[in-house]
This record gives sequence, C-alpha cells and structure tokens, in this order.
Amino acid sequence: MYKTVRNLLFRLNPETSHELSLECIGAGERLGVTRLLGKVPDDPVEVMGLRFPNPVGLAAGLDKNGDYFNALGSLGFGFVEIGTITPLPQPGNAKPRMFRLVGNNAIINRMGFNNKGVEHLVNQVKTRRYNGILGINIGKNAKTPVAEALNDYRACLRKVYAWADYITVNVSSPNTPGLRNLQFGESLTELLGGIKREQRKLAEEQERYVPIAVKIAPDMDEAEIASVAETLLKLEIDGVIATNTTIGREGVETDPLHIEAGGLSGAPVRDKSTVVIAALAKILNGRIPIIGVGGIDSAEAAVEKMAAGASLIQVYSGFIYKGPALIKECAQAVAQYRREHPSEPAKP
Ligand SMILES: Cc1cc2nc3c(=O)[nH]c(=O)nc-3n(C[C@H](O)[C@H](O)[C@H](O)COP(=O)(O)O)c2cc1C
Repeated sequence: MYKTVRNLLFRLNPETSHELSLECIGAGERLGVTRLLGKVPDDPVEVMGLRFPNPVGLAAGLDKNGDYFNALGSLGFGFVEIGTITPLPQPGNAKPRMFRLVGNNAIINRMGFNNKGVEHLVNQVKTRRYNGILGINIGKNAKTPVAEALNDYRACLRKVYAWADYITVNVSSPNTPGLRNLQFGESLTELLGGIKREQRKLAEEQERYVPIAVKIAPDMDEAEIASVAETLLKLEIDGVIATNTTIGREGVETDPLHIEAGGLSGAPVRDKSTVVIAALAKILNGRIPIIGVGGIDSAEAAVEKMAAGASLIQVYSGFIYKGPALIKECAQAVAQYRREHPSEPAKP
C-alpha cells in the first residue's frame, strides 16, 4: 500500500511531500490509524541508562520542531529524536534544498537547520503522549560564529534538559558552515567539556541525569575516528550516534542530481556508516554505546549495523522510501539478532 502512497507523494516536490506526509501521520494518529500500523513487538533494551521499548528509532531532522513526535512515535518507533533545534528560529537555506535520487534510494539535503527555535520545541514537547524514548538534538544558529558555538549548545541544553530522555549534540551537519570542524581536536574537547560541565550542573539542580550523545559524520579516516573516540571516553560522553549524511558522492555519480550541494543519505551512505561504527566499536569496546544510522532500508541493513557494534539503530531515508512497514521489519530482525547473540549486549 505504501508504494501507491509513495507514487503520489513522489510527484510532489520533496519538501512539500515531506510536510504533507507529516500532516497525514498527525491526522492518522488522531484517528487511531497509526497505532494499528505501529504494532511492533516489544523488545526492551537498556542503553545509556534508559529503557527503550525496542531498539529502532527515528533519526533527527524529520521532525525538527517537535510538531509530530507523538504521531511518529505511535507508528512503533522505540525512540524518536527531534531537532536539530537551535536557540533562535531560523529559515535555513534557500529552496530547493532537498532532492530525491530515486534510482539510488537516496536523498541530498542542504536544509541548513531550518527550525522554529528551542522555545517552540519545548512548548511542543510539553504535549507529550508518546511513551517511548524522546531524544532532542541540538545545534547552533548559522549566524553564531563557530568560536562561540558552545554558548548556543549550552542555551539549548538548559532549555530542553527537563524535557528530554537524552540529548544529542550535533556536530556533523554539512550544511552549517564550520560546524563539522567542531568534531576535531581541541575544538571537540572544549565544546564537549563545556557541555559536560553544564550537564553536571543541571543534573544536580534538577536531580535527574539526562544522558548526552554526540552525532558524528561518516567522512572521517581511521585516525580521526580514533581521536573522536578517545575524546568521548575522556569526557565520559554517554553515547555516540554514527552517522550523519556524507559529503561524498560515491555511487551516485550517474544521477544528474548528484551535483547538488549538501549531505547525501540513504543506501549510498550505508557502508560508510557501518565502517565508522565498526571502527568506533573496536576502540570503545562497550564503554560507550553506539547508535547506528545511515542507509538502513531493510532487515539485513539493520542487522549489519548491530553486527558492527551498534546497540540501537535509527532510520530516516529508508523510512521515506519504504514507509512505516520498515520499522517492524527492522525491529523483528534486530530482535532475532539479539536472541541469537545474547553475548553482544546493548552496552552500558
Ligand atoms: C532531509 C534531511 C534532514 C536531516 N536533518 C538532520 C538534522 O536536522 N539533524 C541531524 O542530526 N541529522 C539530520 N539528518 C541526518 C539523518 O538524521 C541521518 O543521520 C542521515 O540521513 C543518515 O541516515 P539515513 O541514511 O537513514 O537517512 C537529516 C537527513 C535528511 C535526509
């Protein structure tokens, strides 16, 4: 059935069909339809000190403002990550800024953190009915100089802390100039050090510890991955999300849209992201859990991420191409994988 819906949706431009789909899912929840679609078997897993009803989540960027997370959650996701949100509202880049590379089951986007600002998101989150895990992904405004990024992350952290089950620090979007430089060396240590100090303060004030995950790009060599992993360990970061979109265009060169600027996601990023997960897992060795994301569009792709060392997985592009049935397909495959590999647990 989703194929028919998709054929109709794909006739519209990607951003319009994105908004229309979210409106439909919202209406579906109000009518109780999504709940029927969302019958995903319970497969609870404990990660970052949180109990996830199942290990399949929705990746950040689909619901940037928290306007639809209740409805999206009702489709059966074990967790939903909303954002990236910035302190102030901002329009993002000029349209068009999202492109479907249909022959490759891929998307290129250069949205540029278009969002309604953190105040709006917090108001939305106060309407929470979803009882899975809610992650809130934070970033910096485009106008804030990279050298002052910590101020923006801290401002978002303070606002969302009381409302999030976990918080993601996004330093890997290719569409905010300079953002990805924050992934390296001293910049990463300073940023995460400042965020960690704020987290400790908020945990004490609010008597509740909210774990922090860091989301990284797939475009790193082994030495860079090792350096990131060492920093995460040193600063006692609670989780790492691998990966965001890629700036590479390998495998899509024949699609005329490959020349569009932005981050590439979907099937062409699958292997890249699995390689990063495996490299992280080798160094982290279970000390920090990995959330695997990138090109998951089938049971097989979901299991591949688990086998590489992920404790949880997230989908985005695969969900656009295959629809809500993908959630159950992945959840069943991951549940079976976990039954067959009880010694490879969800790590801390
Ligand atoms: C249109 C679009 C917008 C996105 N926006 C965000 C975002 O705001 N923050 C973020 O951390 N990741 C964002 N992502 C990246 C996804 O969360 C995910 O990491 C990436 O697409 C790889 O997964 P996939 O291959 O399943 O799509 C976005 C992806 C797409 C396609």
